[in-house]
Amino acid sequence: MAGGGLSASAPAAGVEFEAKITPIVIISCIMAATGGLMFGYDVGVSGGVTAMPDFLEKFFPVVYRKTQEDLDSNYCKYDNQGLQLFTSSLYLAGLTATFFASYTTRVLGRRLTMLIAGIFFIVGVVLNAGAQDLAMLIIGRILLGCGVGFANQAVPLFLSEIAPTRIRGGLNILFQLNVTIGILFANLVNYGTAKIKGGWGWRLSLGLAGIPALLLTIGALFVVDTPNSLIERGRLEQGKAVLRKIRGTDNIEPEYLELVEASRIAKEVKHPFRNLLKRRNRPQLIIAVALQIFQQFTGINAIMFYAPVLFDTLGFGSDASLYSTVITGAVNVVSTMVSIYSVDKLGRRVLLLEAGIQMFLSQIVMAIILGIKVTDNSNDLHSAYAIAVVIMICTFISAFAWSWGPLGWLIPSETFPLETRSAGQSVTVCVNLLFTFVIAQAFLSMLCHLKYGIFIFFSGWVLIMSFFVLFLLPETKNIPIEEMTERVWKRHWLWKRFMDDYDYEDVLPAINDIEAKKNGHTNGFDPASQL
Ligand code: BGC
Repeated sequence: MAGGGLSASAPAAGVEFEAKITPIVIISCIMAATGGLMFGYDVGVSGGVTAMPDFLEKFFPVVYRKTQEDLDSNYCKYDNQGLQLFTSSLYLAGLTATFFASYTTRVLGRRLTMLIAGIFFIVGVVLNAGAQDLAMLIIGRILLGCGVGFANQAVPLFLSEIAPTRIRGGLNILFQLNVTIGILFANLVNYGTAKIKGGWGWRLSLGLAGIPALLLTIGALFVVDTPNSLIERGRLEQGKAVLRKIRGTDNIEPEYLELVEASRIAKEVKHPFRNLLKRRNRPQLIIAVALQIFQQFTGINAIMFYAPVLFDTLGFGSDASLYSTVITGAVNVVSTMVSIYSVDKLGRRVLLLEAGIQMFLSQIVMAIILGIKVTDNSNDLHSAYAIAVVIMICTFISAFAWSWGPLGWLIPSETFPLETRSAGQSVTVCVNLLFTFVIAQAFLSMLCHLKYGIFIFFSGWVLIMSFFVLFLLPETKNIPIEEMTERVWKRHWLWKRFMDDYDYEDVLPAINDIEAKKNGHTNGFDPASQL
């Protein structure tokens, strides 16, 4: 029955807190979300750069010779572990960095963690753009990866915490919107730099990542930290002042008290990662991990990283292929806006389920066209079929962009209780990058061996993840972030079974105080003294 006592921990459980949509919230969110730009730029830039002959000749001469000879199977000419490592080293570094980022988001706050990310990005960009040899190139990529680890940890948390509940989904998706803008920007840049004669186009492509890097760094200098993080770090007065400012009202006491309660329980937890493994945190953990694996097994990055290579493979020629990538990039951005608009109205589940059907069908159609029309060495995919493939890719990307893309980041950032939020987000980012790495590393080999069957492989996964959503993913729309345990997990047909071991020792002090308050005497209740 500990849970029964805890339900009162939210002083205004079930009631919406007063919150205006203030300019400071909007501006802070826009600035913080630029962390997504950097991630997107890195995702988008490598595909185009690895299709540039000058780049290949300098760093990957073996691949370069293969593309020149034109003897190999279409599906296999880019299959090279070194080349794949260039793309994927970023993700390996990122997934390692995220554990450090978990510590910094908790101890230094969300804002400083974003600043650290910005600095990693700047140094990484300088090394990459000036790379003289493969080592410099890879080290630069590794530093960018560290930046991604820190940014992807701090930004989604920042956005979910600072947003008023009723538009939390939309504001959080600004992160993903920036990811897609970053990808599109990278595609446009590659389209231009590929035309540069003199062999330095790729340097410009890699160097322009400096723009998002600077934006994030400057943004992090100007935003305020979230009240949740300030209070978690014991800065109660500052947290309260920030809360008042961002909510645009003096009536913040109920929300403030809820944050203090959440933070007090969080303070009891000495080992966040061990705590994450406790039975009562299992539902959020399973969902966060599953969402990341599923997001990557939609096959999105197979298309994102390698779209130029893929289009080239399909016989589009290198110019047309960059052109097609720009189209897919634009579809990605626009469709993400659909999600911003609808996520707090339709809810998370509707978007994921609709997109599941759309992604499944488009992948099957793609596999059929490619299976019938692309032979190993032909370079003449009839233009009607080529257009059909591009349309199917766009259909697939749009569905991803209003579902798994943004929601893969949103849902984990809003479902963990404060006590495990940093650790939970770190596992989220780590698993995401791990599986991004797996796909990046395996895709070209898979393409070589499975050929068009690769789309059938991913469509099977889409089916599995849609059933997962149908039965196991609860709706989190319009639920205040610190009330998820009571209003989501304890009401779900399966996950509520995991909520019965609410650890008395962890929460007893909080329950006692709440009971005392309910009985009319504060029992010396002073949030400050509890922290
Ligand atoms: C994913 C990335 C992906 C991007 C595409 C993000 O949500 O995490 O791996 O490249 O969406 O838009």
